[in-house]
Amino acid sequence: MSVDGPGPQPFADRIALVTGGSKGIGAGIARRLAALGADVAVTYMRDRDTADRTVEELKGLGARACARRAFFGDPRGDVPAKVVDWVTAELGPPTLLVSNAGTGVERSLMDTRRSHWDWAVETHARSMLRLVQAAPELRSVLAVSSLGAQRVLPHAYGMLAASKAAQESLVRYLAVELAPRCRVNAVTPGLVDTDAARGFGRHTELFDAALARTPSRRLVRPDDVGTLAAFLLSDEAEMITGQTVVIDGGYSILM
Ligand SMILES: NC(=O)c1ccc[n+]([C@@H]2O[C@H](COP(=O)([O-])OP(=O)(O)OC[C@H]3O[C@@H](n4cnc5c(N)ncnc54)[C@H](OP(=O)(O)O)[C@@H]3O)[C@@H](O)[C@H]2O)c1
Repeated sequence: MSVDGPGPQPFADRIALVTGGSKGIGAGIARRLAALGADVAVTYMRDRDTADRTVEELKGLGARACARRAFFGDPRGDVPAKVVDWVTAELGPPTLLVSNAGTGVERSLMDTRRSHWDWAVETHARSMLRLVQAAPELRSVLAVSSLGAQRVLPHAYGMLAASKAAQESLVRYLAVELAPRCRVNAVTPGLVDTDAARGFGRHTELFDAALARTPSRRLVRPDDVGTLAAFLLSDEAEMITGQTVVIDGGYSILM
């Protein structure tokens, strides 16, 4: 699928909601969907300027696009339902969902309090479920997971990893419960140079170590994830559901 010029538009009648689509991996996915014909709503948490720039970029690709602030880490509020109502009012009912919002906070499990746990599980797992519950016209859902969901990463990632593991499990159960109306999959990128990844302590060392270990000899870029995401969300992937697909240049297959 080419994104240069007026190529095929497989998402011409689709309305996509990309949580955390203002920057980083989410923006890479939003750009790809817009280039392939989707109208795209993105959310952000704090950085409105970047979200506004991303909306202009998406419009430049020919999409109708909009952005809204949304914090997905509060288990008590009704943010997911409000976000779906907003997309419906701005663009129409969402038919594609990318549950991507999240971050990379380091915290030792021994220092984890209940509020941290609630925030992580709500942001990475339960908000996806609540968005799906609020959006009955969804045809395809994609979660952005992490290698930490199934492996132990070399920094204090346990709390986030457990929440990502919950998200991956939800992907499998939702895939069965929603079939055949809606497919549900996950992508697991290797290390991507984003604001969240730069938030890790010693991130330069982390990037160097990841690069040295990656057979493809470069780190994954947001647009790489966008290409995979667009395929998994498209009708061409009709028989793929409940899967978690790794995109890491071979990083995780080595001993
Ligand atoms: N970077 C990596 O190496 C990597 C690898 C594997 C998986 N991932 C996953 O990919 C996803 C995107 O990460 P990224 O690296 O692209 O990060 P990023 O560039 O920092 O973007 C994160 C996006 O999510 C928003 N956000 C963060 N926490 C949120 C919350 N609690 N509620 C609502 N919105 C929130 C941010 O908003 P503001 O910036 O406006 O605050 C931003 O729009 C995350 O789920 C992350 O775990 C990242």
